[in-house]
Amino acid sequence: MKKVFIKTYGCQMNERDSDAVAAMLCDRGYTLATSERDADVILLNTCSVRDLAEQKAIGKMGLLTRMKRRRSDLVLGFMGCMAQRLGPQLLDRLPKVDLVIGTQKLHRIPDHLDRFLNNGHHPISDIAKEAGSQNAICDHAAPAARPTAFVSIMQGCDMQCSFCIVPATRGAERSRSIEDILAEVRALVANGVKEVTLLGQIVTSYGRGLIPISDSNLPFVQLLENVNAVPGLERIRFSSAHPQGFRDDLIRCFGRLERLCEYVHLPVQSGSDRILKAMCRTYSVDTYRRIIEKLRTRVPNIALSTDIIVGFPGETDADFAATVSLCEEMQYDNVFLFKYSNRSGTPAAAMPGQIPQEEVVRRHHHLWKLTETHAARRNAQLVSRVAQVLVEGEPETKKVEGRLFGRTRCNRLVYFPGTGCHRGQLLDVRITRAKSHTLYGEPAVHSPQSTAH
Ligand code: SAH
Ligand code: F3S
Repeated sequence: MKKVFIKTYGCQMNERDSDAVAAMLCDRGYTLATSERDADVILLNTCSVRDLAEQKAIGKMGLLTRMKRRRSDLVLGFMGCMAQRLGPQLLDRLPKVDLVIGTQKLHRIPDHLDRFLNNGHHPISDIAKEAGSQNAICDHAAPAARPTAFVSIMQGCDMQCSFCIVPATRGAERSRSIEDILAEVRALVANGVKEVTLLGQIVTSYGRGLIPISDSNLPFVQLLENVNAVPGLERIRFSSAHPQGFRDDLIRCFGRLERLCEYVHLPVQSGSDRILKAMCRTYSVDTYRRIIEKLRTRVPNIALSTDIIVGFPGETDADFAATVSLCEEMQYDNVFLFKYSNRSGTPAAAMPGQIPQEEVVRRHHHLWKLTETHAARRNAQLVSRVAQVLVEGEPETKKVEGRLFGRTRCNRLVYFPGTGCHRGQLLDVRITRAKSHTLYGEPAVHSPQSTAH
């Protein structure tokens, strides 16, 4: 049977989509290749959020089409966001590409591949919308292999952030039902999964228009309550939230739902109200600040990460200084820092005051250095404390004999000595050394005196 290799660019949602497509292909009788060289079919699951991500996938496909000169039966495809955005243009640009499959047609990939192979190898492009496609991302390729899993709870986004291409590539917000999501989580737990991350472009909008508010709880809070009650599940995370929907009912979940981890990723994008307005982010810095204050009052050791864009059109030195000072104030555990990338068709692309690249790079470097020191400081405070780690296994990169890795409830990465048989266990680890994004430790033998997260 044909062997398929899927290479994934971009976000966790893409990782989840790739895994679901792999599972569907296996169901159809295809097998998964361990490397590109070993594959008969290579699919690139693409990202459009920044131009660089698109260039990477196109460059990669260029290399693969050269490989096809020697192996004419090799099947090559684009799937995901860039496939959705550029569609058949990709076939014109790279004539050796066989498949272009958009974000609402991922579950059709087994059909399309069968058809391509059996009907004379005619290129296929399918980027149409499909009602209900959000329900199709539910299979898992190898759930037993890891104790953590992503669960896609919704697709698309109805916000219109002026810089963002995602509403165009992922379409309108469409949520799965609570029952379907619970069935998936239960099946994962039965396969040994201990931690789920609920994924959506904007999870705080989950179920809008589909599930009524109950006891003044938004649908997303109702979903969290239900997932929290699944027996055998140890940890719940979610990504990404939007400050607009981060209401008190959600804040109260932290510390109340015992499986919900003490970690929040809440993109702020900028520390300047003027820029937030131009970005159409629908909140002010003060609104955001209040959410964080409430979270930190409820759970003092909560870990916090954010997304920030530097160099948005019209961003002045004063606007940038406001973002720097917000970071100083927040002392984030992790900042995903992006250089503004002009995406054609978005409102920001045509805004005046586009910032020269050298200035964007300078601001990016300045903020990156600062936020690294914050992360290092936060991690350093954990040395000599004991943290509960969910053991994920041996690291794929940075492999060292006899070394395992896992994450704390606060999503901190920890390396420690151990054997594969610990995989899937919750282990107390005493932290001995800290870097800005990595902790090192030893399994704790004594009962914890001071606990870290
Ligand atoms: N709500 C989604 C956002 C997807 S894009 C989620 O967080 O899952 C992820 C991040 O990429 C955004 O939060 C933003 O910080 C960044 N981003 C989006 N469009 C961008 C652009 N045009 N240039 C630079 N960064 C961008
Ligand atoms: Fe993009 Fe804003 Fe939605 S960043 S994914 S339009 S919340």
